[in-house]
Amino acid sequence: MKFFVDTADTKDIAELAATGLLDGVTTNPSLIHKAGRDFVEVVTEICGIVDGPVSAEVVALDHATMMKEAEILRKVADNVCIKVPLTLDGLKTCKALSSEGTLVNVTLCFSANQALLAAKAGASFISPFVGRHDDIGYPGMELIADIRLIYDNYDFGTEILVASVRNPIHVLESAKIGADVMTAPPSVIKMLFNHPLTDKGIEGFMADWAKTGQKIG
Ligand code: E4P
Repeated sequence: MKFFVDTADTKDIAELAATGLLDGVTTNPSLIHKAGRDFVEVVTEICGIVDGPVSAEVVALDHATMMKEAEILRKVADNVCIKVPLTLDGLKTCKALSSEGTLVNVTLCFSANQALLAAKAGASFISPFVGRHDDIGYPGMELIADIRLIYDNYDFGTEILVASVRNPIHVLESAKIGADVMTAPPSVIKMLFNHPLTDKGIEGFMADWAKTGQKIG
């Protein structure tokens, strides 16, 4: 499963990229607001840090203006992935861009039928939001399992990008279902490295090693 980080904070992105485990980045208008930086400038910087897809979202709601915004964004770098909302105009834009070979991430997906439409529109990625589904009392991971089944039934090449990931259980469940990608905030990705028994084990080994009085090299 590929790991994307969901942030526009370039310090966090650089830190995670240095692990060699980061496959891409997703941003959205709220994350750009949080970063407090110029949109095109920050996307340009992110594309210089990460080789994989960097999602940059259009903010227009009509097809013609979405295409104009996408034109500006896709010029930033070859790894820019245009993010469009799951609306009729968004999918029309997805079809046009993907036909031209541009990467497209269809965002704000909340049903398996929406995911089916996005795949038919040639999306490179579909972003179902699991956390926001959980928030309203619907088990978000069931949506991921349904989309996996449908995409496998028809051999769709669209990658399932699990979004709105809030905790390590979402990551584990995504991997068990066979999602292609998950995107999570830096804090959630960092949690994946940790286990109290790992810390306790290191502590014990270090204490015993110190007693040997040895050094390596
Ligand atoms: C994905 O591309 C979105 O930016 C993101 O995962 C939304 O997460 P949230 O529901 O925590 O805002």
